[in-house]
Amino acid sequence: MSQTMTVLRNEHRSISFLLDLLERQVDLLEKTGEPDLQLIVEIVDYFRSFPDMHHHPKEDLVLRRLRERAQGLDGEFFGLEEEHDKLSSELHAFSRTTADLMTDPSPMTRSTFILAARSFIERERHHIDMEEKYFFPAAERWLTEEDWDALDDAINQFADPIATPQALQRFQNLSEQFQKWQSAAA
Ligand SMILES: [Fe+2]
Ligand SMILES: [Fe+2]
Repeated sequence: MSQTMTVLRNEHRSISFLLDLLERQVDLLEKTGEPDLQLIVEIVDYFRSFPDMHHHPKEDLVLRRLRERAQGLDGEFFGLEEEHDKLSSELHAFSRTTADLMTDPSPMTRSTFILAARSFIERERHHIDMEEKYFFPAAERWLTEEDWDALDDAINQFADPIATPQALQRFQNLSEQFQKWQSAAA
């Protein structure tokens, strides 16, 4: 198996883990009204910085090669790029709903968040399932050794923000920058 496909499948596993984690927090919010809000925010933040900026672009690279190799092949996965754009806009809306939950934990905001979160989780899971069922096997069938070599080189340009030792530092730096900016403005 190519390095690219191993990376993509591993990323699906970590995304699925985070979806399960988010789902548990949504269940808690529904049942007790006391989820770990900070954890929810971090999960949503992760989705914005990781699948959106690192995982989907890698898949788009694979998809472009597949389009060239499998001309005439009619697969639903050829709409993936548009689906990634759609998921990105939906994620943006969901992160706003999450921000609302943080600033106004009223019953109405809570139920809006619960609905949005459940639908987000379901869409993401469905997206992963479809990719693993149709897109990945088609890529493995049609792409050549040469394609995989080029893709392996290209995907090495991307790093998972929470799978690298620099991750925590990156967020810490951002937070320090933000604090400096706040004290300068005060
Ligand atoms: Fe995807
Ligand atoms: Fe994916």
